[in-house]
Amino acid sequence: MTKVLVTGGAGFIGSNFVRYALRQHPDWRVTTLDKLTYCGRLENLHDVADDPRHRFVKADIRDAAVSAPLVRESHIVVHFAAETHVDRSIQSADEFIQTDVLGTFALLEAARGAKALRRFVQISTDEVYGSVPTGASKETDELLPRNPYSASKAAADRLAYSYWATYKVPVVITRASNNYGPYQFPEKVIPLFITNALEDQGLPLYGDGLNVRDWLHVEDHCRALDLVIEKGLDGQVYNIGGGNEVPNIDLTRRILALLGKPETLIRPVADRPGHDRRYALDTAKLQALGWTPRCEFDAGLAATVEWYKANPWWWEPIKRQDPAYRAYYKAHYAERGPA
Ligand code: NAD
Ligand code: DAU
Repeated sequence: MTKVLVTGGAGFIGSNFVRYALRQHPDWRVTTLDKLTYCGRLENLHDVADDPRHRFVKADIRDAAVSAPLVRESHIVVHFAAETHVDRSIQSADEFIQTDVLGTFALLEAARGAKALRRFVQISTDEVYGSVPTGASKETDELLPRNPYSASKAAADRLAYSYWATYKVPVVITRASNNYGPYQFPEKVIPLFITNALEDQGLPLYGDGLNVRDWLHVEDHCRALDLVIEKGLDGQVYNIGGGNEVPNIDLTRRILALLGKPETLIRPVADRPGHDRRYALDTAKLQALGWTPRCEFDAGLAATVEWYKANPWWWEPIKRQDPAYRAYYKAHYAERGPA
């Protein structure tokens, strides 16, 4: 029996990973450790709530009295917990430093000398490379994060590396590109635009709409993590990219077309400060381990649109009833004038 600790398992990627892990590994016992911040939701784990191989613990990763014993009893730690939204980090970086840097530090301290631990996966991001005008980032490229979110993730990424180099904590670091799929909080562009369009609201497109992101389906991400857990080498970094570079304006048009909604819903608004123009990853190192993305973007986007159409129980309460969400949305988008 393998004991797996998933931090941030009530968030978007974490909950998809918990579901994937329970399905793929009958011998795994999974503990989700999550603070349930504004975007962490038990609803994301509704279908595994009664699974005897899963347990949920509500706590802050910085609370070592709770998190350290969980790390020390685990064979595998997959550390997703983080503040994740770039726009929020631009408004206020405090929680990003607290969770992404100090939270990671607390877990790594617990991992020092943890006898059973054989893998600590530090979930980093392609944003640590900064904006990439041409070509594709390799794992050995320098890190040039350009917003408080990506800077806090870069700090955590290198801190995790240092715990391998110094204390031989069995760390591997993954840097994934933009994920999409079910259970993504409707502040990120794909679920925000799908749900706004479903409600015939405007789609606030930043700047000239030509910023490029490389889209990775969350299932492909989960498969990559599974492989890295099994075959990754300690102290190594692995890029995980979907190979689907799409300018935001094209993405917006595809979403509207899938929903049969008019392009008049597109609202060009003022750009994000310091908006990274493009991210792109060289994934040769991961491919050499035996992974390629399976989900073709058009099919993955269509399935994602269908999921939000079929599951208003999941997103309508956030958009219509959650006062914190409504306050954030109003403040964030009201202050952005037209592009
Ligand atoms: P998310 O915002 O949906 O979920 C984050 C989860 O972490 C939530 O459940 C939240 O409650 C929990 N959390 C936050 N602070 C916590 C704390 N102090 N203690 C315990 N739990 C806490 O995030 P996501 O999009 O699923 O991203 C997961 C991870 O993947 C993050 O580390 C992120 O940086 C990384 N990542 C995300 C993407 C992407 O496109 N979404 C791409 C690459 C890497
Ligand atoms: O690249 C990986 C990163 O992807 C992750 O590390 C982050 O956690 C995740 O939030 C995501 O960051 P982005 O900033 O790329 O994602 P976001 O969905 O916020 O924005 C995607 C693109 O869409 C970006 O170019 C900004 C643009 N955008 C976003 C929003 C929310 C808009 O044009 N309008 C919007 O309202």
